[in-house]
Amino acid sequence: MSGVDGMRRKTVLVTGSNRGFGRAIALRLARDGYDVVVHCRRDVARAEAVAEEARALGARALVEAADLEDPAAIDRLFDRVAAEYGRLDAFVANAAATAFLPTLAMKPHHIDRTFGLNVRGFVLSVQRAVALMPEEGGGRIVAISGYGSIRYLPGYAAMGAAKAALERWVSYLAVELAPRGIAVNGINPGCADTASAEVYFTRAGSEPQAEVARRTPMGRLTRAEDVAGVAAFLLSDDAAFICGQTIVVDGGLTLVVPPFADAGTLEDAAWGRRPRRAEAALASSEAP
Ligand SMILES: NC(=O)c1ccc[n+]([C@@H]2O[C@H](COP(=O)([O-])OP(=O)(O)OC[C@H]3O[C@@H](n4cnc5c(N)ncnc54)[C@H](OP(=O)(O)O)[C@@H]3O)[C@@H](O)[C@H]2O)c1
Repeated sequence: MSGVDGMRRKTVLVTGSNRGFGRAIALRLARDGYDVVVHCRRDVARAEAVAEEARALGARALVEAADLEDPAAIDRLFDRVAAEYGRLDAFVANAAATAFLPTLAMKPHHIDRTFGLNVRGFVLSVQRAVALMPEEGGGRIVAISGYGSIRYLPGYAAMGAAKAALERWVSYLAVELAPRGIAVNGINPGCADTASAEVYFTRAGSEPQAEVARRTPMGRLTRAEDVAGVAAFLLSDDAAFICGQTIVVDGGLTLVVPPFADAGTLEDAAWGRRPRRAEAALASSEAP
C-alpha cells in the first residue's frame, strides 16, 4: 500500500500508545500514512482499540505488550516487529512511569526502576530500533520528555532526573547516529490532562486544570494533539536537518515565574521609574 512518500508505507513503533500522548501520536501517524505498532505494558484491550482506530484510517496496526523495564521483553517486542514488518522507519519513545516519592523516602528499587524504564529501556530500544532502520538513511527517533526535567514537581525527583538524562542521551545519540542518516530529537510537553498528570490534578487545589491553564501564557493545557503534531513534524522530511534538539511544547508554561506572572505589563515601571503603587507606599511611609 502507498503511504507517506507516495511509495512504500513507512512503519513506526510508538511505545505506550494505548492511551494519552502515545495514542494521539500513533493515530496521527496512521492518518499520515504510517503502519503502526501500538505498544502497551499490559492494557492490551486499550491497545487493540487504538489499533482498530488506526486500521480504520487505512494503516496496518500491530499490537504488542512489553514491560520496557525488562531487557528480554524489549528483545521480544523488537523480534515481533522485525518478523511482522521487517523494518522500522521511526521509533517514538513515549512510555513512562515512576513511583511518586520525595527523594528521602526512595528505596534503591524506586530509583533503579525509574531509570530502568525511562533511561535504560529507551537506550536498549534504540539499539534494537536502529538495527531495523533503512541502511540508506532517513530513520527517525523521537523521545518524549516532560516539564519535570526542568521544573520542580512534588514526588517527581527520580522521573525528572531520568527525563533530564533522556534529553541528554537524545543529544548524544543524535551525534552518534547522524552519520547513519538517522535523526534523533525530543519533545518536552507541558501539562496535559492525561492519566500520568492525574496524580497532581486529584491533589492540587479545587480547579487545578483551570489554574494551570491560567498560568500558561497561551491560556490552556497541553493537548495530546499538540504533541502528536510536533512528533509528525520531527518524523517528516521538513525536519531532516534538526539534530539532537528537544522541542518544548507547553504554550509557554515553563517560561514564567509564577508569582510574577500576574504582575501585568509594568509599563509604569519602565526605564527605572518606580511602580506607582511602590511610590504611593513610600510617600505614605515618609509622611510626618
Ligand atoms: N501528561 C502530562 O501532563 C505529561 C506532561 C509532560 C510529559 N509527559 C510524558 O508524556 C508521555 C506520555 O504521557 P501520558 O500521560 O500520555 O502517559 P500515560 O497515560 O500515563 O500512559 C503511560 C503509558 O506508558 C506505558 N507504560 C507504563 N509503564 C510501562 C512499562 N514498564 N513498560 C512499558 N510501558 C509502560 C503504559 O502502558 P499500560 O497502559 O499498559 O500500563 C501507557 O501506555 C510520558 O513520557 C510522560 O512522562 C506527560
